[in-house]
This record gives sequence, C-alpha cells and structure tokens, in this order.
Amino acid sequence: MQTLSQYREAFLSHLEERINATEPENLYAPMHYILGIGGKRLRPILTLMTADIFSGDFKEALDAALAVEVFHNFSLVHDDIMDEAPLRRGHQTVHEKWDLNTGILSGDAMLIIAYQLFEYYESVKFRDLAMLFSKTAIEVCEGQQYDVDFETRDDVTLDAYLKMITYKTAVLVGAAMKMGAIVANASALEANAIYEFGLNLGIAFQLQDDYLDTFGDQATFGKQIGGDIIENKKTYLYLKTMSFISDEEKVQLQHLFAIKPSNPADKIEQVKAYFISSGADVATQEAIEAYTNKAFIALDKLQIGQDKKEFLMAFGNTLMKRTV
Ligand code: IPE
Ligand code: IPE
Ligand code: MG
Ligand code: MG
Ligand code: MG
Repeated sequence: MQTLSQYREAFLSHLEERINATEPENLYAPMHYILGIGGKRLRPILTLMTADIFSGDFKEALDAALAVEVFHNFSLVHDDIMDEAPLRRGHQTVHEKWDLNTGILSGDAMLIIAYQLFEYYESVKFRDLAMLFSKTAIEVCEGQQYDVDFETRDDVTLDAYLKMITYKTAVLVGAAMKMGAIVANASALEANAIYEFGLNLGIAFQLQDDYLDTFGDQATFGKQIGGDIIENKKTYLYLKTMSFISDEEKVQLQHLFAIKPSNPADKIEQVKAYFISSGADVATQEAIEAYTNKAFIALDKLQIGQDKKEFLMAFGNTLMKRTV
C-alpha cells in the first residue's frame, strides 16, 4: 500500500500527462480550470487504493481513476449551472467565469473524454469498465433530476431523499472502488463488496456535504454557505427538521422553502435556527456515522488482510470528520 499523498501525486501527474488539449481555447480552458483548482481527489484515490488492496498494480488503475475524476468534474460543472452556484473550491464556477454555453459544452466534452480513457484497457476490461460506467452515469443523471424535482415538491420523504443521494453521489463512489477491483482482477464477490462499502461511504459523504452546506466555513468548504437553503433543497437537515417540529412551525418552514427572496440572508438565518433547535443537525451527524458504520460492515465480506481493512476504515473515519 502507498500513502494517500502518494496516490494523489501519481494521479496528478497522470492527469497532466493525459489531459493536455488546448484548442479551441474556450472548450479546453474551462476543463483545465476546473480540473486544476484542486478538489480532494477522493474518487480517484479510492480507485487506486482499491486496485492496490486487491494486489493489483495501482498504476494500471490510473486511467480508470482519471475517468472517474473527469466525470466527477463534468458533473460539477453542470451541477453548478443547475444549482446556480457562484463558488466552487473557493473559485468562481465555470459558468460564472465564462458563460452558460461554455459550461454546457466543456462539460459535455469532459464526459466524452472520461469514456475515452477506458480505451487504454484491453477488450474485456474495457467492456467491464465501460458497462459499469454507463450504468453509474445514467444513475447520476437520475439522481440529479430527482434533486431538481424535489426543489419544488413539498411531499419528499426521507426514503426518496436517500434514493436521490444514492444516485447522484454514492453510486460514483461505489463505482470508483469497483473499477479499482476490476482492474486488479478481483473476484465478482470482492468487487461487489467493495462497491457496497463505497456506496454507503458515499451516502455518508453526501449527508456530510448537506451538513457543511449549512454549517461549514466558506473559506475551507469552498462553496457558498446556505446554497442549499437558497435553492430550497430538500436535504436530510430539512426533512428531519420537518419531522421534529410542530404543525405550526411546519407551515412556517414550508413557506420559507417555497420562496426565493432576492436577499436570502434572513431566510438562511431562520432556517438554520430551525435546523439547530429541532435537533436535526445532531440527527444528521448520527446518520453520517450510521452509514459510515454500514460501510464498515460490508468489509466483513472481504478476505483481505486486517491492515487493509483498517486502512479503509481510517479513510472512512477521516471523511466523517471532514470540513472541506
Ligand atoms: C462534491 O464532491 C459533490 C458531491 C457529490 C458532494 P467533492 O466534495 O468530492 O468535491 P471536490 O472534488 O473535492 O471538490
Ligand atoms: C452534487 O450534489 C452531486 C453531483 C454533482 C452529481 P450537490 O449539488 O450537493 O454538490 P455540491 O454541493 O454542489 O458540490
Ligand atoms: Mg450543487
Ligand atoms: Mg446539486
Ligand atoms: Mg452540496
């Protein structure tokens, strides 16, 4: 096994080597911009780490890791358009720095490049990776559509929310790990167990993302705090609050989530107060822990060394405490 920073370094030099087209500038400059302004590189690191865990050469997984990260960045460029987000990783979003059309087309090209990267694998692996990728990518679209649909619905259930975040976020984390398993020729049983680990970690990850969207620090989180409240996102925080408060308060909160005031500062403060007084903030933290532990249980199905399981658990525990 390598250290996380060794995986990150290997990934970054591969990114530089593979993604280097320049013309037309308005197609490629936004791509280099979004891929270059940082990010945690969580998904590609998971791909490389998983290949290593199943005794593969982690370097063989670099193109799959890059495909996952390029796809992730494509989804962020389009997500920021859909969420009208001004800030990403502490920088202007692509559609703000350029314009909407540039964000759409650059995003499209990134999606295609992501697919193209699987061409570096021989035919059986190419097919397995591309099939998993296609299934995952369409699920991400489904999740994103639910997410947008829920903004204007007032009947969203916790189950519907969990399905939505499973699709928009968790399946890609699961797939990132499963790709590492595929590259390393792991058995189907192992590949599925590591997918289940990634899937549950991904659910915890999105719950934490929702939490930080309200309670994080913009300087470290790098996104506009309160963005989900502004957009009337039916997050775990919102749904739990609705389940905890009185009917009278429900009417008030529901009203706040049906409007989009031009100055949202008051709305954000009021909603935040509900999230805290109801105890939904604590309930969200508990759910993050519960899904992280559910991920750990999936590791029981794996016949890998205890040291490798502990490595994965340490990674999960670190994610749970993240502020970035
Ligand atoms: C942001 O993902 C989108 C979500 C699925 C929550 P990350 O938090 O992994 O974003 P970066 O790549 O580190 O910026
Ligand atoms: C994004 O969910 C999921 C995808 C990009 C597919 P969010 O909308 O919560 O992600 P952030 O908070 O903008 O990163
Ligand atoms: Mg968003
Ligand atoms: Mg979104
Ligand atoms: Mg978010």
